[in-house]
Amino acid sequence: MALHRVGILTGGGDAPGLNAVLRGFIKRAVGQLHWQVVGVEDSFDGLLEDPIRVIELTAPRCRGLLARGGTFLGTTNRGDPFDYRGQGDLSHRVPRAMDELGLEGLVVIGGDGTQAIGWRLMQEYGVPVVGVPKTIDNDLSATDRTFGFQSAVEVATEALDRLHTTAESHDRVILLEVMGRDAGHIALHAGLAGGADCIVIPELPYDPDRICAKVMRRRSHGRAFTIIMVAEGARCANGEVPEKSPGLSIGGVSLLLARQIKARIEADVRVTVLGHLQRGGSPCAYDRLLSTRYGVAAVDLVEQDRWGEIVVLRNGSIIGVPITEAINTYRTVDPNGELVRTARAVGVEFGV
Ligand code: F6P
Repeated sequence: MALHRVGILTGGGDAPGLNAVLRGFIKRAVGQLHWQVVGVEDSFDGLLEDPIRVIELTAPRCRGLLARGGTFLGTTNRGDPFDYRGQGDLSHRVPRAMDELGLEGLVVIGGDGTQAIGWRLMQEYGVPVVGVPKTIDNDLSATDRTFGFQSAVEVATEALDRLHTTAESHDRVILLEVMGRDAGHIALHAGLAGGADCIVIPELPYDPDRICAKVMRRRSHGRAFTIIMVAEGARCANGEVPEKSPGLSIGGVSLLLARQIKARIEADVRVTVLGHLQRGGSPCAYDRLLSTRYGVAAVDLVEQDRWGEIVVLRNGSIIGVPITEAINTYRTVDPNGELVRTARAVGVEFGV
């Protein structure tokens, strides 16, 4: 059995379960197969900087990792080696650092952006790469589930439960804005699980008049409060856009919708933006399990020399597929899909 020496890194925004993937990988690769595994700090940064920043990973490193949020290797979404922090293309440093460290390949845990970098390193320098898909947004179509998504949904669902009691006590309209970039998966799943009255998602541009009509309909049925789940990437059908907050690329649509409601009907409106609470903290049981499966399956891909592949969940099984399947293929909510139809069937208003 070949003994390998590989690097592993986490890139892009963090997601609950990153440490659990690392644990699964280290336990199998180092603890059982006696490989050498080198953790690269802060995404690709650790290979680009001088001195190189890496950690030799040993089995005891895994203690306490399963339930711990974040990533002990650190991460960044600003470290593209091909366009590095205003210093130009430093990508040649990656294979150079790998040579210095004696690494035969890299295991890259990250979303579409990070996977695209890994793939490009493989194309341009022949760097052998195995991928593990990550994002709380669940928008990678290569896999049925990314780890972190379920934890984010749990947090958002609990937030809705909490907002329900206060909204009901005060007869208020309360909006909860959740993450998801240009996909509405977190909003739709948590909105359904938490019994939101309205759910607005990017895939279904909303008409504020329809949202207000729902609030009024509820009032006429004796329900004086309304809970509205808002995906951060949601768009208003009439073309109105949220005011840009300095330094923030996305978000703010819940404030726009709140203003639109206030402009149309008499209502006591409040807005909660859940933000990074969805990304921080301990992964839920589902994500711990999925992450562990991904970590162990990534070892299998390396062992079988299946560089250029990424581990994914398909119909309940973990398999390897070409990394290219995980980049440039963005999964959004199907506006006519079963979940949207289910939501409509229980009276959810999408604003369209
Ligand atoms: O892609 C994951 C995600 O959490 C999105 O849902 C969100 O829009 C974005 O990252 C926020 O990224 P950051 O705050 O790290 O720049």
